[in-house]
Amino acid sequence: MNNFFKKDITWQKCSVTRVKREKKNSHKSFVIWFTGLSGSGKSSIANSLEQILFKNNCSTYLLDGDNIRSGLCSDLGFSVVDRNENIRRIGEVVRLLIDAGIIVLVAVISPYKNHREMIFSRLGKKNFLEVFVDTPIDICKERDPKKLYKKSFFGEISNFTGIQSVYERPEKPDLHLDGTASLKKNTQKLIKILHDRYIISFPNIK
Ligand code: ADX
Repeated sequence: MNNFFKKDITWQKCSVTRVKREKKNSHKSFVIWFTGLSGSGKSSIANSLEQILFKNNCSTYLLDGDNIRSGLCSDLGFSVVDRNENIRRIGEVVRLLIDAGIIVLVAVISPYKNHREMIFSRLGKKNFLEVFVDTPIDICKERDPKKLYKKSFFGEISNFTGIQSVYERPEKPDLHLDGTASLKKNTQKLIKILHDRYIISFPNIK
C-alpha cells in the first residue's frame, strides 16, 4: 500500500451517520461472518437467515464468496496472498455496509485464522459474529454441489481448500454450527443469538 496516498487522505464525515441509519432501520448494523469448507453449507444457511431478516423488515446484504469473486475480486486466485487480499477487500466493503446501517452476512471460506483475525479486529468485536459451519470434509465431498472436489481429485484445479490447501478451524467461534443439522435448526440458532445480543427484536420468534 502506498503511504503517500494514505498520508494525504482524510476521512470525510457525513451528516447522515450510522446511528441515524440504525435508528431509521430500527435495528443495529452488524456482520455475521460464516466460515467453513466449500460445500459446508455456509451459503445455504446465510441465505435462509437473510430471508427471515428481510421478511422482518431488516436491511440486509449477503456477500457470497463466489459472487464477490465474479466481480470485485475476479482478478484474484487461491494462493495465500490472493486469499488474504480477497478477505481484506470483503472486510472493507463490510465496513462501508456497516456504516450504511445494514446487517451484512458474509459467506466465504476464509480458511486462515490470521486473515480472519485481521478482519475481525478491523471491524471491532461488537460489530460481528463469527459463525463456524462445521461439516466433515467427507460430507462436503459427497455433497460436492459445484463438482469442485471431483475436479481437484482429477487435478483439474489446484489449491483446493481442504485438499491441497489448508482450512484452519476457528478455535472459539461465537457460534459453532453442525453443518449436517437441518437448515431450520441452524437458522433458528442464529436468530436466537441475534436476539440475545439485541441486534434484532422480532415478536413471536421461537
Ligand atoms: S476464500 O478461501 O478466498 O475465502 P472464497 O469463499 O472467496 O474463498 O471462494 C470460494 C469459492 O470459490 C468456492 O465456493 C468455490 O466455488 C470456488 N473455488 C474455486 N477454486 C477454489 C479453490 N482452489 N479453493 C477453494 N474454493 C475454490
